Amino acid sequence: MLCLKMPTDGGWAMAAARDANAILVDHAHCEMKAATNALSLAMRHSGDLDLVLALSALAREEIEHFGRVVAVLAERGVALGPPKVDEYAAELRRATAALPRSSVPPLVDRLLVGALIEARSCERFQLLAAATDDEDLRALWTDLLASEARHYRTFVDLAVRAAGGDRARVVARLDDLASLEGAIVTRLAEQGAEFPRASIHG
Ligand SMILES: [Fe+2]
Ligand SMILES: [Fe+2]
Repeated sequence: MLCLKMPTDGGWAMAAARDANAILVDHAHCEMKAATNALSLAMRHSGDLDLVLALSALAREEIEHFGRVVAVLAERGVALGPPKVDEYAAELRRATAALPRSSVPPLVDRLLVGALIEARSCERFQLLAAATDDEDLRALWTDLLASEARHYRTFVDLAVRAAGGDRARVVARLDDLASLEGAIVTRLAEQGAEFPRASIHG
């Protein structure tokens, strides 16, 4: 799926489909985090208005996704509750920051981490859509999948722009970061730490 190196463990979707409420709660928080992350990145680069506009448009969509998922929780009578620590995203950012300095500006890495999280979201929405027998949920996951695939491309395009248009350099860096991401996903799955943490940010 997109740039990913390691597939999600086969058991994840079955466990997630068995506990749809947990995955919905987790996913609502992931959508909010995606929005706040895009806005914080925009504010850190407030001198670049094209970047600010692209990221604020993305944040608007993530907030709309958040509202949709929260509406489903309300229909089901499920409380949202406080967010939990997102080990996946935190580890991915830490591992990226610990890489030897590369020739790409730090903004490129931030954007590519966003692209990877979107790519993993897409993969997992596809797994969830296939694993659920609830038609409404299948429609929700399928719908979100299309948006997040678009977000993946937006992040990669913004990274290419931040790298001065050097797409080859960005693709090579994305390949390195995808290896890190694959190792993190595999380790978290081995530790049994992955469910209900969806690592699908939306
Ligand atoms: Fe989203
Ligand atoms: Fe997204």
